[in-house]
Amino acid sequence: MGLRLVFLGPPGVGKGTQAKALAAARAIPHISTGDILRAEVGAGSELGNQAQAFMNRGELVPDDLVVAMVARRLAQPDCADGWLLDGFPRTGAQAAALEKHLAQTGENVDRVLYFRAADEILIRRLSGRRACPECNANYHVEAMPPRTEGVCDQCGSALIQRPDDQEDTIRNRLDVYRAQTRELIDHYRAAGLLTEIDSEGTVDEVAAATAGSLEG
Ligand code: AP5
Repeated sequence: MGLRLVFLGPPGVGKGTQAKALAAARAIPHISTGDILRAEVGAGSELGNQAQAFMNRGELVPDDLVVAMVARRLAQPDCADGWLLDGFPRTGAQAAALEKHLAQTGENVDRVLYFRAADEILIRRLSGRRACPECNANYHVEAMPPRTEGVCDQCGSALIQRPDDQEDTIRNRLDVYRAQTRELIDHYRAAGLLTEIDSEGTVDEVAAATAGSLEG
């Protein structure tokens, strides 16, 4: 039986880092709405052009665009036996749309993992993040540096700082998270699906807590 997981938490908490590792270990697709949207922006598609300004300001892309994008992704054959949604849902409307979609397919979310860390840690992680625009690998200048400064270990491309990782935009993203996404914690707790993961430790410590939360 496949695993259907939602990763929830503030920007920079480490959702993407943990999601990539867990999805690979469990052989389920890692569906990051941020990664998909950045790929659309990079490709210059209509969706990318619509999304870009919202993303650069640190605001959420409108629900209708994101919901349609996720529905298309979940309909692909590799999602038949489970998936890991990273960064979706992010609003009450997105959560309702996901529930409606799953009611139609007869599937359920098995668990929502809520990753949490103090704001000062989030800001440190985001301001030190370097990303590979080609293969989406993430690094951190102190915590997870690449072998060669500025170069992706996996594909050799030049690393970049994401446009939304500038200090003003980081603060806006944290405000947007508090205003629009945090309410989902109570929603999923009330549904009995939420597990909290203390994410202030090292990547390995958080990975162990994540794996442990799915045992039993
Ligand atoms: P998205 O890409 O989803 O951004 P986010 O939620 O803000 O999350 P991040 O990717 O910034 O952080 P993360 O928690 O994945 O942390 P990471 O593992 O990289 O979304 C970007 C934008 O797209 C949004 O602002 C919005 O505009 C749009 N969007 C996306 N989804 C949407 C939706 N559903 N609806 C509407 N709009 C949407 O780690 C961060 C850094 O910390 C890295 O450098 C990493 O190396 C380091 N690190 C990770 N773990 C640790 C650790 N334990 N110790 C030390 N360093 C660590």
